[in-house]
Amino acid sequence: MLSGLERLNQPLEARFRAFLTRVIQDDTMHGRFLNTLSLLEHIGSRKIMLSHIHKSPNGEVLKHMAEEARHAYFFSNKAQALLKQPLNDYSQNTTLAPAAAKMYFGKLDSMIEHRITAPEKNDACYLWVSLMIELRAHWAYGLYQDVLQQHQKSLSLKSLIAEENLHLAEMFDSVMALDSSAEQTIPQLAKNEHELFEHFFAQLEKAV
Ligand SMILES: [Fe+2]
Ligand SMILES: [Fe+2]
Repeated sequence: MLSGLERLNQPLEARFRAFLTRVIQDDTMHGRFLNTLSLLEHIGSRKIMLSHIHKSPNGEVLKHMAEEARHAYFFSNKAQALLKQPLNDYSQNTTLAPAAAKMYFGKLDSMIEHRITAPEKNDACYLWVSLMIELRAHWAYGLYQDVLQQHQKSLSLKSLIAEENLHLAEMFDSVMALDSSAEQTIPQLAKNEHELFEHFFAQLEKAV
């Protein structure tokens, strides 16, 4: 199933590598890109919190939320170092395509909310949105790490990627346990996520 998802991403790979290669050569651009990743991680952590507003989160959910918040801090901290200024916002000047980043997350959320019918709908939406985000993070951060290494940059995403891979495995196991038709649903939702990401990525390309 995951190889089918790789095929879906394949046509985007060269473009994404070219984008990253261009971004990391310029400290200002790179700092703004890192701050955009911080924005996405922050939205992710906030969404986990909001999806558990009426029900106590268990230890695994708390860990997931804390790790996404830490990733937001990690990227913001690296962005500050490159931009050589304290960062207090996710504004147009300190990020890349922030409106498109928010729209990507918002539309993914509402698409899944619309598609998923389950008795424990809040739990199900949290797991499905997280799975789609983790699949994208797995692809995008893997390529980012590759490009950073190729260009001998000191920034390393290795420990962050290790945490994301654990999240991905947990979300995958959870949706498989929750939904007997998950194997059919994953490629359908991934195709929709792919369209949303393509739109976001086109805006990122325009911003550099
Ligand atoms: Fe993360
Ligand atoms: Fe994650």
